[in-house]
Amino acid sequence: MTYRCGDCGYSSSKWMGFCPRCKSTEGLIETRPEAKNKPVAAPTPVPLSKTNDSLVDRIATGMAEVDRVLGGGLVPGGVVLVGGEPGVGKSTLLLQLAGTLAGSGASTLIASAEESTQQVGIRAKRLGIDSDDISLLAEDDVDAIIAAAIQYRPDLLVVDSIQTVGVSEVASAPGAVAQVRESSARLIRAAKQNNISAVIVGHVTKDGGIAGPKLLEHMVDVVLYLEGETDRGFRTLHGLKNRYGPTHVVGLFEMGSEGLGEVADPSAVFVADWQGSVPGTLIFPAIQGRRAILVEVQALTSTTSLPQPRRSVRGIDTARVHQLLAVLARHTGLTFGDQDVYVNVVGGMKLTEPAADLAVALALASSRLDRPLGALTGWGEIGLAGELRQVPHAVRRSEEAGRMGLSHQIHPSGEGSPSRLLEALFAAGLRAPRH
Ligand code: TYD
Ligand code: MG
Repeated sequence: MTYRCGDCGYSSSKWMGFCPRCKSTEGLIETRPEAKNKPVAAPTPVPLSKTNDSLVDRIATGMAEVDRVLGGGLVPGGVVLVGGEPGVGKSTLLLQLAGTLAGSGASTLIASAEESTQQVGIRAKRLGIDSDDISLLAEDDVDAIIAAAIQYRPDLLVVDSIQTVGVSEVASAPGAVAQVRESSARLIRAAKQNNISAVIVGHVTKDGGIAGPKLLEHMVDVVLYLEGETDRGFRTLHGLKNRYGPTHVVGLFEMGSEGLGEVADPSAVFVADWQGSVPGTLIFPAIQGRRAILVEVQALTSTTSLPQPRRSVRGIDTARVHQLLAVLARHTGLTFGDQDVYVNVVGGMKLTEPAADLAVALALASSRLDRPLGALTGWGEIGLAGELRQVPHAVRRSEEAGRMGLSHQIHPSGEGSPSRLLEALFAAGLRAPRH
């Protein structure tokens, strides 16, 4: 028998509670000795033309947004990791998924080590889910979960969560790296061997987590993350990896009293309460995954007597806002030194694209000058020299804004377009102040 470190692979003939090489305190894991010089029967390769590329085996989940992100549905034998911060709605989403699957006659076994069957049952009742095609198991032993899955043969096995299950052979507590790795390896092997589609839930903490899903990302076939601010309604589900379909597709949900509702037309939702007659607000066509979604960007500036004015930013990188304030001051003469500044992206969406620069700058200028922008939209990256730079997906942004009736579009692409922030302010009807 040999013992191996789950982190660095160090092997030893003796068991030790820590790894002498990488100093991991996980303890070594028992592994079977590798047989030397054993004759190996040659496996038969499959010609490429004979491979099965049909997608008819896919199980559509019945939740359109989830199917879109998965690329058509669940694949038998495929393992999906659903990661997200605690409380974001992973268990809720999967219970609802089990519900819609049951609607089309597909069965789900939910193995929950976090919640009792009674707790899951209460939530299901609240969500209006009731079906004999959904079975619950309160179990934290991975081998027991696998045994149940092999016996009951569900179409989908859900393990909630990987941080709370373990295998008895590994001494460390559930959640430790060695446990997470060994538990996942066994679950993935069992799913593949038995052609059962599986979803593994993984918690990530705000700082990225330690024994978190990052470790699992290379082991599973599909990686989905559920994100959103827990105190706000919207949730995005996006694919970081997909061996069976496209990545970077985003599904949008809204958490309500009846669980997660699918948002079919996000733009309409995000701009529903937008008021063009108020200074400091405009619509920005963001690219989320492969589609454009209109979101409202708001800024508020107000004169302050604080020696260090407030800078309160939500939904966008604060450092980026500081930079835009500096560029506005230097290249348009709009100063904010005596102003408290608040910037907000409505609906809890997070904007990470530099394309949002122009929208934020216009919102800031509009509030500072107390002039409403009206029904216009803008996008483009702003450089430190006050120049406007082109960004990807101009056509998609323009079409989505046009669909919602925003024909006044300010962006740096095309002839006659502004190439400097100052020109964009003119184009938006915000007269630049005298220098
Ligand atoms: P949950 O699925 O337990 O999160 P996770 O599994 O990711 O930890 O969902 C947690 C939150 O969702 C909880 O704070 C309550 C809220 N929620 C609703 O707002 N509406 C609902 O119908 C349900 C079931 C939950
Ligand atoms: Mg949960």
